[in-house]
Amino acid sequence: MTVKNTRLSAAILFGLCMAGLSAQSQTKLTLQLDNTPAKVSPALYGLMTEEINYSYDGGLYAELIRNRIFKDNPKAPDHWALVQSGDSKASIALDNKHHINEALTTCLRLDIEQAGARTGIANDGYWGIPVKPATTYHGSFYARTDATGGTLTISLESTDGKTVYATAQVAGVNDQWQQYKYSLTTAKDVKPTADARLVISAGKAGSYWFNLVSLFPPTYHGTANGNRIDIMQLLADMKPAFLRLPGGNYLEGQMFSTRFNWKKTLGSLDKRPGHMGTWSYRSSDGMGLLEYLEWCEDLHMDPVLAVFAGYTLNRDYLEAGPLLKPFVDEALEEIEYVTGDVNTKWGAVRAQNGHPKPFNLKYIEIGNEDGFDVSGSYDGRFAQFYDAIKAKYPNLQLISTIGGRDGLGSRFPITLRKPDVIDEHYYRNASEMESDASHYDDYDRKGPKIFVGEWATREGSPTPNFNAALGDAAWMTGMERNSDIVIMSCYAPLFVNVNPGGMQWKSDLIGYNALSSYGSPSYYAQKIFNENKGDKVIAISSENIPAKMQKLSGRDSAAGKTPKAIPAMFYVATKDSKTGKIYIKIVNTLGTAQAVDIELKGAGNVNANGTLIELKADKPEDTNSITEPQKIVPVTTTIKGLGQTFSRTLAPYSINILQIDTK
Ligand code: AHR
Repeated sequence: MTVKNTRLSAAILFGLCMAGLSAQSQTKLTLQLDNTPAKVSPALYGLMTEEINYSYDGGLYAELIRNRIFKDNPKAPDHWALVQSGDSKASIALDNKHHINEALTTCLRLDIEQAGARTGIANDGYWGIPVKPATTYHGSFYARTDATGGTLTISLESTDGKTVYATAQVAGVNDQWQQYKYSLTTAKDVKPTADARLVISAGKAGSYWFNLVSLFPPTYHGTANGNRIDIMQLLADMKPAFLRLPGGNYLEGQMFSTRFNWKKTLGSLDKRPGHMGTWSYRSSDGMGLLEYLEWCEDLHMDPVLAVFAGYTLNRDYLEAGPLLKPFVDEALEEIEYVTGDVNTKWGAVRAQNGHPKPFNLKYIEIGNEDGFDVSGSYDGRFAQFYDAIKAKYPNLQLISTIGGRDGLGSRFPITLRKPDVIDEHYYRNASEMESDASHYDDYDRKGPKIFVGEWATREGSPTPNFNAALGDAAWMTGMERNSDIVIMSCYAPLFVNVNPGGMQWKSDLIGYNALSSYGSPSYYAQKIFNENKGDKVIAISSENIPAKMQKLSGRDSAAGKTPKAIPAMFYVATKDSKTGKIYIKIVNTLGTAQAVDIELKGAGNVNANGTLIELKADKPEDTNSITEPQKIVPVTTTIKGLGQTFSRTLAPYSINILQIDTK
């Protein structure tokens, strides 16, 4: 096909350039505007999510109280402390004797022998509780007491207790469990801080029991049990087409009992026991299946739903057959929960949970990274899910987690059913991404479509640096050029809480602490690629693309590989066929400015003024951080002197998008 031919010629020219035949000559890109060999997939850029790096608890999910149902540690009330002043005598302990229901089985008991000036319990939140000016927080908790006339005081205060930012009271606490609601409003002149805690204190001696203690700041769209506004805004700005949920390893669980069991994540919070996640901490499951779907709705994303497929991270699995059937049935029920109308069993449950309107669903992924299942059981498991889902939902597109060229599961080909789509995962350094930027150029166009369901250039921590953004951008030029076959892609992981202990996986797209959040250079690279993707790929050829030597990964060096020359500049061109606007993306990975001649063959009128969106850094190691969140952001300028041929000089270490109006 033409795209391939065009790229072949680019490769040959690159080879000539490397051979020194034209090393000094000017780089040239020639676009054939009347040759658009591929469509750009409108769903090319989406999001991948799971509970990792405190993505929801301590991240997107706005709950501020950590260990709200006291199950994080069966031995001690982690993140809770006794607060005492004056001559108070008291103690706190976990108590498993006073169940509220099947989910709320462990509570916190406060025994006050002598009340003193103040006695209570304090929660330190997720690395602090964010206090902001003129803000109303809504909270609730379950409580009971054997003291008479139980009044409880709730305060949002500094961790040393010296500054009280807001306070409220609930009265009438008695010997029956009841839920109490409160709200706290801070003053206008409060300085933002995360050096704060929530305290619930009692004035009288006696025993007090607490459960499901909750506190929410204002949330995105004001949704109850909702999401953090700043992080949602960062995501909304990316205009993602879809959300791959709920994982990742988080879908699978370490063992069957800790898989993402969607049924246990539904309904009011007091019905959610939470579960041990796969990334070393427990999940509250406040971000349950419906919350994922509402997140999609809020950001106009399609859910790409991954269903548990009978394989867990400890390599336990079920062979296809009767033992697997309950999980296949569970997946069918899950699909019905998402898409069924209110007259279906699970559609009715969704309505009861507050969302009568069904959600659109096009893609179901069967499992996650089943290439790690060395038993080879996936072929059969995939076939069993495939047959059951296609029988009931023939329009759903089914995604296999093996069968691609990412190396995962290559020993166990998928033979029994042909997947509609294959999910491939790539985690690499910048040089590996750049060396392989033409990865999809020679994929079989008749085979399944490709979903690059996890990918990232992993340089920089907790969030990637600019060198990683360059690797990402090079990789994205390849995905975009081939987006007739690469129909969807999503970077992973999406989030990291940057506090010490918050990160389990280095190089994550968006970082935050309790007070603020920021996008990495990779975040901005993706954002500008998605905002400027057009709908058709334009054939493009190149001359004299500069080259550099590959930097081998530790793995490749250890394997005795020798570095080879790779391109140092990457490009793709697309157009919006309605408006005639063309988008030329050029990535300069070198530390020197690069002059490029550009020819627009077949263009009628070319507007002499266009736009340049430039993302660049002084050094590849430069990055954004929680203290310098906007060090590297795209800058948009008007450029002049455009025509059928023109020249541009690209800044060192830069990702450039030229927008050019043609008729
Ligand atoms: O993105 C982090 C992890 O990488 C995902 O959970 C898993 O699917 C992959 O191995």
